[in-house]
Amino acid sequence: MPITKIAEHLRVARHVVVFTGAGASAESGIPTFRDTLTGLWENFDTSKLATAEAFRADPSLCWGWYEWRRRKVIQAQPNGVHNAIALLASHVPKLTIITQNVDDLHERAGSPVVTHLHGSLHSPRCIDCGSAHEAPLPSEPLPEAGIRIEPPRCTSCNGYVRPGVVWFGEMLPDEAWTDALAAAKDCDLFLSIGTSGIVYPAAELPFAALANGATVVHINSLRFAISSQEFFIQGTATSSMKSLVEEAFL
Ligand code: OAD
Repeated sequence: MPITKIAEHLRVARHVVVFTGAGASAESGIPTFRDTLTGLWENFDTSKLATAEAFRADPSLCWGWYEWRRRKVIQAQPNGVHNAIALLASHVPKLTIITQNVDDLHERAGSPVVTHLHGSLHSPRCIDCGSAHEAPLPSEPLPEAGIRIEPPRCTSCNGYVRPGVVWFGEMLPDEAWTDALAAAKDCDLFLSIGTSGIVYPAAELPFAALANGATVVHINSLRFAISSQEFFIQGTATSSMKSLVEEAFL
């Protein structure tokens, strides 16, 4: 379907869901996970960095790596995708933003309510008692990717403080998942932006939307297989979203 047709759907939609993945933050300089050469999981070992067992085995390696990522996000700025999505909110009756990203670039672009399916780099908590911990703004420069940093200790139980992201083998935050699934089932237009769509259960959302009659559009710089009922805009997330919003409303 050409972008002009998708813009028509956007113009008349009652409830739009925007579902973002790492590709939405890529143009802010935040690495994706699976892009060849630059993806985080192409260069770092998930079994050493992205499970609770890995954190317990080597807390400093894990904490250092997430501090590197957190500081990269702090230095980054929202890009045209985040801005176009924030602008979209003033043009459609209802907009739900669901992200798999652990950054805060949607919020900093002016979208205050975002469902974070995979947690946040900015909400660490104790690995033992679960108490929330402050994530202070760092004064030191960006550490190198492999540097070890001793995690802070919990002020309640002295356990290690862990990053507030969802690791492999962990459940998604209950409320976030319930809200996301309800929005996917209720919407009439579902825009899936910059995600490989291979990590479940998040990847179920486009299917839930489709099964409930929504128009589902994938926006991605790399083409992948979709069903005959879905649509694809191939291009960078920033240029595609800018064109779509401009075509529909400006
Ligand atoms: P991936 O790295 O798996 O996929 C990123 C997608 O973005 C790919 O399909 C790229 O082709 C596309 N892409 C890259 N740059 C783009 C651009 N400028 N414009 C448009 N598309 C672009 O990232 P996710 O799908 O987000 O989980 O990965 C899902 C989850 O896997 C992540 O949330 C993370 C990871 O393990 C956790 O941390 C729990």
